[in-house]
Amino acid sequence: MSVVASEGERLQKVLARVGFGSRRSCDEIIAAGRVRVNGTTAVLGRRVDVARDVVEVDGRPVGVLPGLVAYLVNKPAGVVTSASDPDGRPVIVDLVPASPRVFSVGRLDVATEGLIVVTNDGQLAQLLAHPSHGVDKEYLAEVVGDPGPAALRALRDGVEIEPGVVTAPAKVSRRGPGVLRIVIHEGRYRQVRRMCDAVGHPVRRLVRTRIGPISDPHLRPGAWRLLDIDEVRSLTASASGSAVPAEADVSPGPGRSA
Ligand code: URA
Repeated sequence: MSVVASEGERLQKVLARVGFGSRRSCDEIIAAGRVRVNGTTAVLGRRVDVARDVVEVDGRPVGVLPGLVAYLVNKPAGVVTSASDPDGRPVIVDLVPASPRVFSVGRLDVATEGLIVVTNDGQLAQLLAHPSHGVDKEYLAEVVGDPGPAALRALRDGVEIEPGVVTAPAKVSRRGPGVLRIVIHEGRYRQVRRMCDAVGHPVRRLVRTRIGPISDPHLRPGAWRLLDIDEVRSLTASASGSAVPAEADVSPGPGRSA
């Protein structure tokens, strides 16, 4: 196979379309040798068949089929996860490429930080958002005071967060004075905050550090990256109940620098 294929779409155009910046910056990425097509480092002018060729940037596969994208975003505090905000606060979709139009999967409170999936894939969103599919989500919560064994036990067993509503059993461990790791698979409104309120230790800072098998300690607050096809598959598998839960990777917790 020749290195510079004469058919298909120009690689810089394809990369620009899926969110790697302008065509000029995509040419720079290609010229820097960061892009491989079917395992071979691409050169300027490369064309690709988006239906068949495997494109990688920095060793990570990139979904280049026109249409569906899924981003992993590290939401900073102060950003809202709805599509628009009547109060003019920054919205999550402003952090990712404007095209194609995307939406967040589920919500994080405006004050909550951490990982959220943003996509235009309605099927993936539906799978992940539905509590019955059991995708677990891990949070680091910095709380007021230092919860003792009784509070931890209550959080694990389930607490009443509103009259008649008791949370499902959760995985809860103390990571340090006033810092809890909490894994839940329900998605009730402000659930972690209300759980911590219920045991007398209100949340001071909340960071989501994992969604099912997906974590990324290197994704800076405000940054995004594409989920590669394997990650989307593993998310889908975890939502379908067929994946082994990932071991927690919680290093970007409260106290990390922005
Ligand atoms: N629990 C909360 O209290 N807030 C979030 O944003 C997510 C989970």
